[in-house]
Amino acid sequence: MSLDDTLNIFRAIGEETRLRIMGLLCRGELTVTEITTILGQSQPRVSRHLKILADAGLAERHREGAWMFYRVAAEARDDPALGAVLTSVEAIADSSDRIVARDRERFEQSREARAAVAAAYFKENAREWTRLRRLHLPESDIEARMVGLLKGEVVDQFIDLGAGTGRMLEIFAGHYRAGVGYDLSHEMLAIARANLERAGVAHAQLRHGDLFSLPLEPQSADVVCIHQVLHFLAEPAAAVAEAARLLKPGGRLIISDFAPHDLEFLRDEHAHRRLGFSDEEVRDWCAAAGLALDKIETLSPGSGERRKLTVKIWLCDSPAKAMREISRLHPRSVA
Ligand SMILES: C[S@@+](CC[C@H](N)C(=O)[O-])C[C@H]1O[C@@H](n2cnc3c(N)ncnc32)[C@H](O)[C@@H]1O
Repeated sequence: MSLDDTLNIFRAIGEETRLRIMGLLCRGELTVTEITTILGQSQPRVSRHLKILADAGLAERHREGAWMFYRVAAEARDDPALGAVLTSVEAIADSSDRIVARDRERFEQSREARAAVAAAYFKENAREWTRLRRLHLPESDIEARMVGLLKGEVVDQFIDLGAGTGRMLEIFAGHYRAGVGYDLSHEMLAIARANLERAGVAHAQLRHGDLFSLPLEPQSADVVCIHQVLHFLAEPAAAVAEAARLLKPGGRLIISDFAPHDLEFLRDEHAHRRLGFSDEEVRDWCAAAGLALDKIETLSPGSGERRKLTVKIWLCDSPAKAMREISRLHPRSVA
């Protein structure tokens, strides 16, 4: 890194609004609109500051439909100068300073407002969920492929994050000895209970809980499933990290969600936050959570199914399996 580059970093962070923005981004990814609302400043002004932070290598952006997302640049933490600046930013962002304390509070309010939109959607649509899910998914194909990933194995503990109406607990029922599904929506959980009872699935439980912080010991699950949940979340990476925490060594995480798409109306009408995910993004979350992305399946809709979207299934392994694979492929690289 040159003297000029280093000066650029300090010039970028050496301004109050930009320091506050980086403090917010250290808490999590935000859209430009959310940053504008939290800071109470105009959009052009905020965008100008964000560009300076991105040019200095501290922040990175990613456009998805009409929304622009900003986050801490993925490689910044590995760079000595940028990493040191981020450590200082985190310290000030956690401090009791009056201005940053208010930013923190507004960040939380923004997250809560976002979660409330999704919660209201699920409360209102719990009874309709089975029909709504089918609108955009080639459902039976996906389910068969997801279950097929376990290759007939029966595991001890299966955990479903964002269990909704209990469909995953139902289709995987023959593949676990004990299952538990967590969801934040009481309405969804009530329907899930009725569905599982009707399907005769007595070895699964349903519990109310936030998938970002579950009251479960680390390494308690053989398989964790996150089906059609991540695109509603403000922090999908944190959900993957929580799933990784729950997995036993050698356990597997099965994620299914949309491939990147441009159906913007899903945000307004169906509370989606993200318009699908790329394989690279999922791979990065896995790597950050200590998982290895083992397999990717892509299910494209048929030519006559214009309303359906391409769906991805990502199979991720927790370390023991990942290490076994590395030692199989490169026997001398693993001590
Ligand atoms: C689209 S539904 C999918 C349900 C189910 N996995 C399926 O495929 O039918 C998403 C579910 O995630 C739940 N959810 C959203 N945020 C959550 C959170 N932070 N913790 C637990 N559940 C959450 C919602 O209440 C909703 O039931």
